[in-house]
Amino acid sequence: MTSLVQTIELLKAGNVVALPTETVYGLAGNALNSAAIAKIFATKRRPQDNPLIVHVSGIDMVRNLKLHIPPLAERLAERFWAGALTMVLRREADCPLPHEVSCGLDTAAVRVPDNAIFLEVIKKTMFPLAAPSANLSGSPSPTTAQHVRDDFGEEFPVVDGGACRVGIESTVVMFDDNDAIRILRPGAVTSEMLREYGNVVTDEGGSRHSPGTRYKHYAPRAKVIAVQADAEAFTERTKHERFVIANPETSTLFMFLRQYDQLNADKIFVRLPERSGVGAALYNRIIRAAEFEVTQW
Ligand code: TXA
Ligand code: MG
Repeated sequence: MTSLVQTIELLKAGNVVALPTETVYGLAGNALNSAAIAKIFATKRRPQDNPLIVHVSGIDMVRNLKLHIPPLAERLAERFWAGALTMVLRREADCPLPHEVSCGLDTAAVRVPDNAIFLEVIKKTMFPLAAPSANLSGSPSPTTAQHVRDDFGEEFPVVDGGACRVGIESTVVMFDDNDAIRILRPGAVTSEMLREYGNVVTDEGGSRHSPGTRYKHYAPRAKVIAVQADAEAFTERTKHERFVIANPETSTLFMFLRQYDQLNADKIFVRLPERSGVGAALYNRIIRAAEFEVTQW
């Protein structure tokens, strides 16, 4: 078991540590240290053109990072931070973040995680933490400390904060102009919630703005069959199947996918939810796990 004191020492020395957030576990390293960033990419075997989210303790830290904060971003931060909203902001000339964090883009993604352990670590180290989800690239994001160990064994310490409350990764947005919010990755902060603050455009799988959405994601080893059907038809057609998710929820989707893999499932049937509210984010994760194939019953 790694103590908080050890965690902080390790991070200060440029090492990586897995930490809990309210969304999924993150593989954290000092966002201001190029060597730590390189370690994150190498450990995760992450493609070199998929930028990282920088986790901060609040908007003041974003200001110190010399990222441009439009008024709309300020309002969203007030409403949704700490929480599952990541904002892509433009770097100013004197932004101290190494370019490796955002893979040479002229922007950086920031969020304040709603997790007491994570926030305590930022407060104690006094630097922002770059942290992608702590899974091997391509596998479902980890929602427990055990999931992280299943992917990486003892490669780095894992701080156990229990199961993640939200269970899917944060909503990622960027700003097209002063009152337009572009959703690059849907999450628990929904387009309905964001609509109160400006025009919302969705850009799922929009590779132009969000490098990460190009890559295969969330996929277990088993074949995921994403099904559009009403509850009754779905239940009837899957009554002899062992690996079924009839009513997916954010807090358990990745957990079930991983659990079924461990039971050597060859097929997992998942019923697609309505694409409203957080259903839009669930839908997105399920069709990605199913490699974009949808079956109608
Ligand atoms: O909930 C979360 O966001 C979790 C926890 C650990 O905070 N983190 C997470 O990180 O999901 P990751 O690396 O798995 O996903 C980051 C996403 C990717 O889709 C990436 O392309 C996008 O954010 N991203 C990061 N920086 C970006 C930038 N400057 N411009 C556009 N997209 C960016
Ligand atoms: Mg990820």
